[in-house]
Amino acid sequence: MKNFSFHNPNRIHFGQGQIAQIGTEIAAGSRVLLVYGGGSIKRNGVYDQVIAALAGRTVVEFAGVGANPEFDTLMRAVALGKEKQVDWVLGVGGGSVLDGSKFIAAALALDPAIDPWLIVGNKTPLHSALPIGCVLTLPATGSESNFTGVITRRETQDKLSFKNPAVFPRFCVMDPTVISSLPPRQLGNGLVDAFVHTTEQYLTFPQEARVQDRLAEGILSTLTEVAPVLLKDQADYDAQANFMWSANQAMFGLVPLGQTLDWATHAIGHELTVLYGLDHAQTLAVTLPSLWRYTFDAKRAKLAQYGRRVWNLNGDDEAVAHAAIDATRAYFESVGVKTRLTDYGIDAEAAAAGVEAQLIRHKRIALGEHADLTPADCRAIVLGAA
Ligand code: NZQ
Ligand code: ZN
Repeated sequence: MKNFSFHNPNRIHFGQGQIAQIGTEIAAGSRVLLVYGGGSIKRNGVYDQVIAALAGRTVVEFAGVGANPEFDTLMRAVALGKEKQVDWVLGVGGGSVLDGSKFIAAALALDPAIDPWLIVGNKTPLHSALPIGCVLTLPATGSESNFTGVITRRETQDKLSFKNPAVFPRFCVMDPTVISSLPPRQLGNGLVDAFVHTTEQYLTFPQEARVQDRLAEGILSTLTEVAPVLLKDQADYDAQANFMWSANQAMFGLVPLGQTLDWATHAIGHELTVLYGLDHAQTLAVTLPSLWRYTFDAKRAKLAQYGRRVWNLNGDDEAVAHAAIDATRAYFESVGVKTRLTDYGIDAEAAAAGVEAQLIRHKRIALGEHADLTPADCRAIVLGAA
C-alpha cells in the first residue's frame, strides 16, 4: 500500500425526512442560490420539502441545469448569483446539478479578471468557493460527497473534470425515497455508474490494499443484490438505502486510498458522450467489457479475485476472469443498460476514430493503471465494443 493522506469534510444527513436538516446547516438570513434541473423535484415532492426547510432565508432559484451540465447554462446561473449577491449554493438533483453547483460556487468566488472556463480542467488555481450544500436525488456519481465536477462545452466538444477541495459540499442530504420517482433508464444508469466507479479504483492489479479491496467488493456485491429488488419494486426502502449508500461510498474517497487507479473507461466514456450524446452510464457499459478484454493479461489476477468474491465463480484464474467479464456485461444488461455500440445505432469504426482524435486533443495519451493505454489502444477498445 502506498502512503496517503485522507480528509473528507462533508457532513451527511442520511435517511427519510432528512431534507429538513437543511435548516440546521444554512443559517437564517442567508441568501441561497437554489440550483436544480428540468423539474423532477417539483413532481416528486422534493422541491416543497427544500423550500419549507429554507424558510427564513432568501431563495434565488435557477432551474434548467441539464444532463452533462453545460458551461453556458452555468454561466447564466453565475450571473444571477452575482446580481442577487447570494452567499450559499444549494444543488438539488443528480450528478449534473451537483457538479454544476460546484462550478457555480467556484465561479462566484473567482477573481473577475479570470476566465471561469479555466476552472474546468484545473487550469487556474482555485482558492475558495461559496459554501455548497447538496440534496441528492439520483444515486450514481457520488458528487454529493466529493470535490469533483464534470462540465461540458458542446461548442468546443469538451467534457472535462475539475477537482478542488474548495468545492467539497459542506453537507449533503441523502433521502433514499427519492429513488421511487426515477425513470427506469436513470435507475439503470445509476446502478452502472456506481459499479464502474468501484471497478475503476479496484480492478487493477494486486496492491496489498486489503481493506480497500473488501470495501470495493462489498459495494459491488451490494449493487448486484439490490438491483433485482429495485427492478421489481423501486419503492423498497432497504434496497433504496443500500443502493444510495453504495453509490456514495464508491466515490467517497476510501476505496482508492494507497492505490494506483485505472479511470480509462471514464476517459473514453466522456469522449463518447461528447461525440454521440450517450448517457454517461451508457458509455461506461459499452466501454468496460471491451477494455477488460483488451487489458486481460494485466488485469487477470484482479479479475479472478473479483470473479470469486463478487460473483462466487470457481475454476482457474483464466476461466474465472473470463466468466467475470461475462457476468459484468450480463449485470449491465439486466438493469437495462445496453453494452454494445450497435445497440445505440453507432458505427464503431467512426466512434473509434473520433475517440482517438479527442483523446489526443485532450492530451490523454497514457491512460490506465499502468499509464500504457495510448489513444491508439483506446481506438481498439472502442472498436471492440461494436
Ligand atoms: O433534470 P431533472 O428533471 O431533475 O431530471 C433528471 C435528469 O433528467 C433525472 N432525475 C434525477 N433525479 C430524479 C430524476 N428523475 C426523477 N426522479 C428523481 N429522483 O435524471 C436525469 C439525469 O440526471 P443527471 O444528474 O444527469 O444524472 P447523473 O446523476 O447520472 O449525473 C451524470 C453527470 O455526472 C457526471 C457525468 O459525467 C454526468 O455529467 N459525473 C460526475 C462525477 C463526479 N462529480 O464525481 C463522476 C462521474 O463519473 C460522472 O462523470
Ligand atoms: Zn461515472
